[in-house]
Order: sequence, then C-alpha cells, then structure tokens
Amino acid sequence: MKWSDELGVNVKEIDEQHKKLFEIINRAHEGAINKDKKEGNDVLNELIEFVRVHFSTEEKYFEKCNYSGAKEHIAEHLKLTEKVLKFKNDFDKGECDCSAFLDFLKSWIEEHLKVMDMKYVSEFKKCGLR
Ligand SMILES: [Fe+2]
Ligand SMILES: [Fe+2]
Repeated sequence: MKWSDELGVNVKEIDEQHKKLFEIINRAHEGAINKDKKEGNDVLNELIEFVRVHFSTEEKYFEKCNYSGAKEHIAEHLKLTEKVLKFKNDFDKGECDCSAFLDFLKSWIEEHLKVMDMKYVSEFKKCGLR
C-alpha cells in the first residue's frame, strides 16, 4: 500500500496513524505473516493493537466534535474489528487464508479511508482539529 497526499485528512495525528497502518499491513503482506508462526503472530498482534488505537483516536474526535456521521462510522470500525479478530482466531488454529485476508484488509482500509474517513474532514476542520 502506498501513501499519497490526497489520502490526508488534515489532522496530523490521524495522518500519521494511517501511514503506520499502511506500514504494518505492508510488512504483513511482504511475507511476515507466512514466514513463521512467531513472526506472523507478532505482526498480527501489532496490527490488532494498532487498529484499536487508531479507531479509538478517530472515535475520540467524533465525540469531541460531535461529528454527525459518528454512528455509521463506528459501526464500520466495529465490523472490521470483528473480522480481524476472527482472522486472528483462524490464524491461531492454523486455518487462515492469509493472502486472501490481507487482500481484503488492504482494499477495506483504502476504501474506508477514501470514503468514510474523508467524510469527517470538513467537520473536523470546523471543530478546530489540525
Ligand atoms: Fe482511519
Ligand atoms: Fe475510520
């Protein structure tokens, strides 16, 4: 996954998190997940933890800014969190379709960023976030 400036949401903290998310997913994709159980496990735990951090950062600002699209956005975050946890569960049982999952995750993140995250840009700006 490649970062580009038009993916920016004009809030430094969130842009940095999106970049880091791309970086973790790329690392998982570049084989860490398939190499060995230990390495795959580490990168997946890092991913799960960071997805949690990122979603809660956005949701903290939804609350702070009384964001009008919070409800549907939080529902999307929840759905993805459940999918990632289910995947980790499969991985632990040695039953993951890792490449398919990573492809899904990449397109989900990209789509979510371009559609859902972009929707909060103007309200966050009005709210004074930088
Ligand atoms: Fe996001
Ligand atoms: Fe989001």
